[in-house]
Amino acid sequence: LKEIKVGLCGLGTVGTGVVKILKNHQEEIKYKLGCEIVVNKILVHDIHKPRDIVVNPEWLTSNPDELVNNPEIDVIVEVMGGIDQTNLLIEQALRNNKHIVTANKDMMAVHGQKLLKLAKANNCDIFYDASVAGGIPILRSLSDGLASDRIQKIMGIVNGTTNYILTKMTDDHLAFDPVLKEAQELGFAESDPTSDVDGLDAARKMTLLANLAFKMEIGLDDVEVSGISNISQEDISFADSLGYTIKLIGIASINNGKVEVSVEPTLLPKDHPLALVKNEYNAVYVYGEAVGETMFYGPGAGSMPTATAVVSDLMEVIKNIRLGISGNSYVSPQYETQLKKNEE
Ligand code: NAP
Ligand code: HSE
Repeated sequence: LKEIKVGLCGLGTVGTGVVKILKNHQEEIKYKLGCEIVVNKILVHDIHKPRDIVVNPEWLTSNPDELVNNPEIDVIVEVMGGIDQTNLLIEQALRNNKHIVTANKDMMAVHGQKLLKLAKANNCDIFYDASVAGGIPILRSLSDGLASDRIQKIMGIVNGTTNYILTKMTDDHLAFDPVLKEAQELGFAESDPTSDVDGLDAARKMTLLANLAFKMEIGLDDVEVSGISNISQEDISFADSLGYTIKLIGIASINNGKVEVSVEPTLLPKDHPLALVKNEYNAVYVYGEAVGETMFYGPGAGSMPTATAVVSDLMEVIKNIRLGISGNSYVSPQYETQLKKNEE
């Protein structure tokens, strides 16, 4: 294999970062993989839109068939967002034996288990590390680095936009709306930022973390969610006067086989490690029976951090293709058992 051909869905905040990393780190990537990555189609809404990045105009298309039904393409990198339509596109790609890398937690939280099953049936990989906590390799750490342990609790800040808003409201006494606008301009917020501020984005990420950590199938309905849209400057000042900071905290824990997942604004003492996580940064605390306490920290949103996770996943997919071991990404044992039952 001299080169792997990639179809990129989306050339916005994350997609632009992906193209930049593939270009700027071309030598390192080629050295580590022993082959080249070639993007030969990019799906966008509007092929005529002015862009911050120069790409070969022949790569751009608004027709998904040119990617998912293109026999030349080995891997689809999906960084365009959307749930049901995008799921159909990914299903079609998997049926055509294309491997998938996605940053789309919305789709994975709703359709993830079904997509993982379809991927396995087609000997394809789906990696989605970029969908949780941006540049922090947290899904990979849970599935690889901590694979031998029994995870008991995960707690953290997993939404960059809300952490950015709360930080600016606390440290700079700014009002909610203009800071949200700033987070949108910086590319941290979702296209519909209500999913950020209402806690839904964090809830989706917590279900993905819980599914992987506890080897269970936790749905969004199982999560207690409240966001930050009702947090006022007065709440923040009052908390501050008592020595506390308000953070949007996700918690997932397992006790005697019972899983509890929640996302809610939480008062933390100002010197708590999670209280010190500022702006769009995320931090995830993981407690494992054997390892004890671990903490993962880094940029949770934004173009280059998220694109780093996407391209690293792409490299993992390519390594598996080269080793001939595709089709085993993040499928939980319980799910495997169900799969076998379905097949019988
Ligand atoms: P974005 O800036 O809005 O870019 C979306 C891109 O996808 C655009 O290039 C758009 O085309 C294209 N697109 C969207 N819907 C399309 C459709 N139906 N058909 C064809 N093209 C379509 O979004 P983003 O911030 O890069 O986020 C992309 C994904 O990554 C989302 O799932 C998001 O949740 C996830 N994510 C984002 C971040 C972050 O920090 N931004 C971090 C982690 C994960 P045009 O350019 O022509 O409009
Ligand atoms: N809107 C998301 C956030 C992007 O602010 O965390 C990263 O998933």
